[in-house]
Amino acid sequence: MTYDVHKIRSHFPSLNTGLAFFCGPGGSQVPLVVGAAIAHAITKPISNRNTNTESEKNAEEYVVGFREAVGDLIDVDPRGVVYGRSWTQLTYDFSRTLAKNWGPGDEVVVSRLDHDSNVRPWIQAAEAVGATIRWAELDTKTTEISVAAVEAVLSSKTKLVAITGAGNTIGTRPDLRGIGAAVHKVGALFYVDGVHLTPHAAISVKDIGADFFGFSFYKLMGPHCAALAAAPALLETLSNDKLLPATNIVPERFEFGTLPYELMAGCIAAVNFIAEMAPGNGVTRREKIVNSMNALEKYEDELLEYLESSVASLPGVTLYGKAKHRTPTIYFSFAGHNSVDIYKAMALKSVTLPASNFYALEVSRALGLGDAGALRAGLAPYSTRDDVNRLIAGLKELIA
Ligand SMILES: Cc1ncc(COP(=O)(O)O)c(C=O)c1O
Repeated sequence: MTYDVHKIRSHFPSLNTGLAFFCGPGGSQVPLVVGAAIAHAITKPISNRNTNTESEKNAEEYVVGFREAVGDLIDVDPRGVVYGRSWTQLTYDFSRTLAKNWGPGDEVVVSRLDHDSNVRPWIQAAEAVGATIRWAELDTKTTEISVAAVEAVLSSKTKLVAITGAGNTIGTRPDLRGIGAAVHKVGALFYVDGVHLTPHAAISVKDIGADFFGFSFYKLMGPHCAALAAAPALLETLSNDKLLPATNIVPERFEFGTLPYELMAGCIAAVNFIAEMAPGNGVTRREKIVNSMNALEKYEDELLEYLESSVASLPGVTLYGKAKHRTPTIYFSFAGHNSVDIYKAMALKSVTLPASNFYALEVSRALGLGDAGALRAGLAPYSTRDDVNRLIAGLKELIA
């Protein structure tokens, strides 16, 4: 299936500004249909969710549609899809809920590859109940987290393993299936942060074997919100704090207050947009999504090769991500140059190339970059060779 990047770009008003965007891992640009869906949903008859009036039915449709869209996007049961304001918020909520079942002697595994949102909530929740944290270490030479590195900290005491589907700075994609099998062997739960992986690959949570998997819509052309998925039967076993009159049914009991129906409409539109990017001969929305994401992954991998080899040829550069299986995201710095200065200078050239630890604090520290981090260039569905050429031309001028 061919991937027509120019056709895809025509849907994004923000690309007409002339900016070359390499900040996709921090949040992607959004196609017009997503904005239109949000505007439409919030201005048509809308009431609190129910099934009596037209306005109640509209709200109901968005909630059901949101869960079905997530179900198709990541291959999960829509009845186990929980809406969240952000992935950080969802992980804080679930860490506190899950910690109700932990105590002294229990262990929770976090990794040095993860964004802090899949690290600190677990550390804080474990500390609050006297449970112990174990670290799955990053091999700083290969920038991999192997199955063996996770196995090394697993035991019959392990309650949960929290790990990312992909590192949001160095791009490392751990062997999730292998790790999941090891986690389940000791009877622990497998909690996967899919925020950086979901925009770059066809996801099947069933295939991965994650007990919890989530992502943020604003990283994949949708509005600023997130979703978490788990088997409804697993959600049933968790008891969380909630208001007395609020429903106790799953997944609603994990969603506090009134849902943002208009954002849910935007999420549905984003998933439909993904399905139509390169649908091939897919018939169902799920089939079209898988075709689109496979075509996108191939396109991004080829562009990554061009980006990475071009950056690697620049004088004084260090590229940090070395894992065999990676997302199209590179993390790098230049000897004798401050990364933030380069970020600011590139902004003046209308190229978005941010520098930071990007909240992957443990990665930054493990790689010897302290808390400052480095430059990150991430590809997105609308990235082109021309964007890469502008990035390289700009960098050449700055480091000359
Ligand atoms: C891998 C990863 N996990 C989690 C997050 C946090 O997501 P949210 O902003 O939805 O809390 C990010 C955001 O950059 C991320 O890249």
